[in-house]
Amino acid sequence: MGQGLEQMYWEANTPCRDEQTHPRSSDDLFSRVLVVEENAEPMVTICPARLDDADAISALVTESAKAFITPHYSATGAAVLLEGMTAGETRVRMERGFRYIVAVDGDVIVGVGAMKENTHLYHLFVAATHQGQGIARRMWEDLRDHALAHGNTGRITVNSSRYAVPVYERFGFFKDGGITEKNEITCQPMVWQTVPHETDVEDRQI
Ligand SMILES: CC(C)(COP(=O)(O)OP(=O)(O)OC[C@H]1O[C@@H](n2cnc3c(N)ncnc32)[C@H](O)[C@@H]1OP(=O)(O)O)[C@@H](O)C(=O)NCCC(=O)NCCS
Repeated sequence: MGQGLEQMYWEANTPCRDEQTHPRSSDDLFSRVLVVEENAEPMVTICPARLDDADAISALVTESAKAFITPHYSATGAAVLLEGMTAGETRVRMERGFRYIVAVDGDVIVGVGAMKENTHLYHLFVAATHQGQGIARRMWEDLRDHALAHGNTGRITVNSSRYAVPVYERFGFFKDGGITEKNEITCQPMVWQTVPHETDVEDRQI
């Protein structure tokens, strides 16, 4: 088994979501837990994705892309983008070693992030119902830190949607050239790196 597959196998079998289960060894404890749960804010957990999450991941990214990305594309561009978001394509990428993580609210997947080869942020999507709560930042920091701990030397790229450019700028990415277009899909290439960007250095010298 290659290192990527081994990593996926390990992550796919990590019982992360079960860690949310509360101990219910006595009636007293059970009552207290219920009271806490009734008053608590819903908790969103970031977990490694499992292979059997592929359908839910596909549904979330497809719905989000239709709402926020494809309205700016031609019909061809939209079709090409959505073809790459099916459950089958998602499973193929997982099996090839892309690191997928999910944000889970209860047992519902409300966010998806994916990193390719520890160097390229491939997906970052949060359900419209859960946006603006810091979930994308938590997923980005998880993916970034994991990449840095697994051989990344301080440079991560992303092809940003028009909508997400200001979000990536908040994460420290900068635009890497102008908007590009392939198969009628447009995106803004961006880079995050640990060494200062040339423009930043020039800005400081002025
Ligand atoms: C882009 C997206 C993933 C952000 O998810 P989110 O969970 O709402 O983002 P967060 O709440 O973690 O916010 C992250 C940062 O961006 C800022 N931000 C969030 N939405 C923003 C917006 N529309 N415009 C400007 N800044 C924004 C936040 O203030 C926050 O900054 P901070 O952490 O420095 O305080 C989400 O809006 C989404 O799924 N969009 C549609 C799909 C998409 O375009 N994905 C990117 C594909 S390349």
